[in-house]
Amino acid sequence: MLIAVDGPAAAGKGTLTRKLAEHFDLARLDTGLIYRAVSLKALELGDPSDEKIAVAAAEGLSFSDPDLAGLRDEAAGNAASKVAAIPAVRDILLIFQRNFAANPPNGKKGAVLDGRDIGTVVCPEAPYKLFIDASAEVRADRRYKELQERGDEAIRSAILRDIIDRDERDRSRTVAPLEPAKDAKVLDTSDLDADAVFAAALNFISLQD
Ligand code: CDP
Repeated sequence: MLIAVDGPAAAGKGTLTRKLAEHFDLARLDTGLIYRAVSLKALELGDPSDEKIAVAAAEGLSFSDPDLAGLRDEAAGNAASKVAAIPAVRDILLIFQRNFAANPPNGKKGAVLDGRDIGTVVCPEAPYKLFIDASAEVRADRRYKELQERGDEAIRSAILRDIIDRDERDRSRTVAPLEPAKDAKVLDTSDLDADAVFAAALNFISLQD
């Protein structure tokens, strides 16, 4: 089984894919974390928008260490969308992602991946594709709550601005832009809670079989 979940920042992809992975006993890959890890390494080396720096960071990445401090910070997300716009960086990371989908780790029989281009580029053959969306306002509220629960300082207006900027960068890049695959089920989750989104996803998956 292979499930592709895409969507803009803070749409709830992580919450949904954790539930799907548990329900179907799948290996789960949050591909955003990989771009975030590259961006943190690139920031150590200099400007993450610089191709040479971003490529060096991607080549030096160890996939076994996804727990870098600061990985979930908004600064890492913003820098991630800069390294993510560089085609050579995406090429390096594509191999790892495709391999994960084809050979799920830990003896799992399938995988669920979330990101921006899973249904369009990484796993276009996936039989189940979901595109999780919500208004920018709702997504800013979700991210604000998430940061507060983690005890991080957060300013809602700054989060909203960052989300809008990052979506714009992700949608307008020339390589693997954020967009639903033609055969993806688009779910507007602005008025749905996490359980309702999960139920809608399960319903869609059962209709494909
Ligand atoms: O958690 P959030 O939805 O805010 O972002 P993320 O999934 O951690 O992704 C961080 C950034 O990585 C995104 O804004 C994209 O620019 C980039 N990304 C990508 O280009 N392709 C992916 N498959 C996953 C993430």
